[in-house]
Amino acid sequence: MSGRKRVAVLASGGGSNLQAVLDHLAALGDRRAADVVLVVAGRETAGALARARRAGVATAVATPGSLAGVLDAQAIDLVVLAGYLSFVPAVVTERWAGRIINVHPALLPSFGGHGLYGLRVHRAVLDAGARVSGATVHFVDAEYDRGPIIAQWPVPVVAGDTPESLAARVLRIEHLLLPRAVDALARGAVALGADGRVCGGVTAAPADAFSLHLPDDPSLVAEIDALFPA
Ligand code: GRF
Repeated sequence: MSGRKRVAVLASGGGSNLQAVLDHLAALGDRRAADVVLVVAGRETAGALARARRAGVATAVATPGSLAGVLDAQAIDLVVLAGYLSFVPAVVTERWAGRIINVHPALLPSFGGHGLYGLRVHRAVLDAGARVSGATVHFVDAEYDRGPIIAQWPVPVVAGDTPESLAARVLRIEHLLLPRAVDALARGAVALGADGRVCGGVTAAPADAFSLHLPDDPSLVAEIDALFPA
């Protein structure tokens, strides 16, 4: 055993967030604090399973009822929801409390909750006339999209945006935030306190105005700046 945290990624779709996590951990090399050792989907057809197999990572197809057993069998430390549309039962959210996170393509608590996933989220943002959207990484509890927030970053809504164009812009930020949140959680640099509040980490400049409970990471800021030049 490497001493690194054993991560399971749960995904129902193509798995681009999974790929971002795999690529980020690979880029960290020996400095990484976690390894993705399992990818779980609700259906065999999920593209994320094919990505996992290409990366040599074990895969499983699980129902909500068999999920805890599948995670236990691999001695999973951290659970990451990355576009996972199946219900996560209480036995999992309670057993992995403070060790299970999700990425959502909007600035929670707005535009989240049961039934708000995929393009529906971005359509709701556009229908509301919001001028800013973004991505959120949060701890998972018994309620959809309601757990304590770890990291958020804003994304502009531009004139002529469609749900598809906004989704693509938000996804690029998801690919930056989620891998760093996984590594920070694995490193113990961020945690869920006994009071249910997120603790640890430092606010990274220029994020002074936005909450990023992630360790100081100039490369993150540089990559975000490159996405949205002033
Ligand atoms: C992402 O936008 C995620 O926020 C949402 O579902 C999408 C999954 O995309 N919950 P992918 O499968 O990671 O490409």
